[in-house]
Amino acid sequence: MKNRSTVPAKRETLAVPQAVLFDAYGTLFDVYSVALAAEQLFPGYGQALSLLWRDKQIEYTRLVTTSNHGVHYRPFWELTRAALVFAIKKLAVTSITTGPEGSFDQNLGAAVERLMNQYRSLSAFPENREVLSELQRRGIPTGILSNGDPAMLQLAVKSAGLDGLLTHVISVDPIRKYKTHPDAYALGEQATGLPAGRIAFVSCNAWDALAATWYGYQTLWVNRYQQPFEELGTLPTRTGASLSAVLDFFNPFP
Ligand code: LAC
Repeated sequence: MKNRSTVPAKRETLAVPQAVLFDAYGTLFDVYSVALAAEQLFPGYGQALSLLWRDKQIEYTRLVTTSNHGVHYRPFWELTRAALVFAIKKLAVTSITTGPEGSFDQNLGAAVERLMNQYRSLSAFPENREVLSELQRRGIPTGILSNGDPAMLQLAVKSAGLDGLLTHVISVDPIRKYKTHPDAYALGEQATGLPAGRIAFVSCNAWDALAATWYGYQTLWVNRYQQPFEELGTLPTRTGASLSAVLDFFNPFP
């Protein structure tokens, strides 16, 4: 219970969820774990690069979803690579131009390949397995609902050792629209056969927790980095410090 700090006034009227869906990148998989490798490649820029990379990646998902009826859609892996190239060019370009050997393009290409390889198998947060196992033990269906494309998600799940612990791995790729488009959140209802109000949606990304709340999910915002929530007048159903707070949905009210 200690993880829960923000609750809406009428929480006690909400039905106990019958399934749990998790965001993937940032929630199950640590997108900032690439900072160390980035720091080795670009000393002094590792953390800033990982932050800008992530922000740009999400910005690109919005750009392609909202422009020209989605004709510019590209899979998440490609947008992730494009965002990385942008972030390196913006922040760390001098490390490449002063690099020891090879042309600018070769050095940039090698750095991008190395960091994209890291992204393929990001570190998972330590409590994931235990939380997913506990939900499985209680017979609660679980899943991922992510912007990631199917191949990325499959590899990330496998390398994080979460194989067999997720009932659904749902990618937005077939509909070519990224979260926060409502069609993306609708995929969770279609996969589980449940209305959003009977599903708990868990995300570390405040914008994702907000949009899922707007869509109608019960939500847990996992605030790992002590950040303020979005200032748009809606709160998530719950807030916690780690993924373990999802179990509070299923515990009796105090
Ligand atoms: C995802 C990104 C948004 O997994 O974190 O959907």
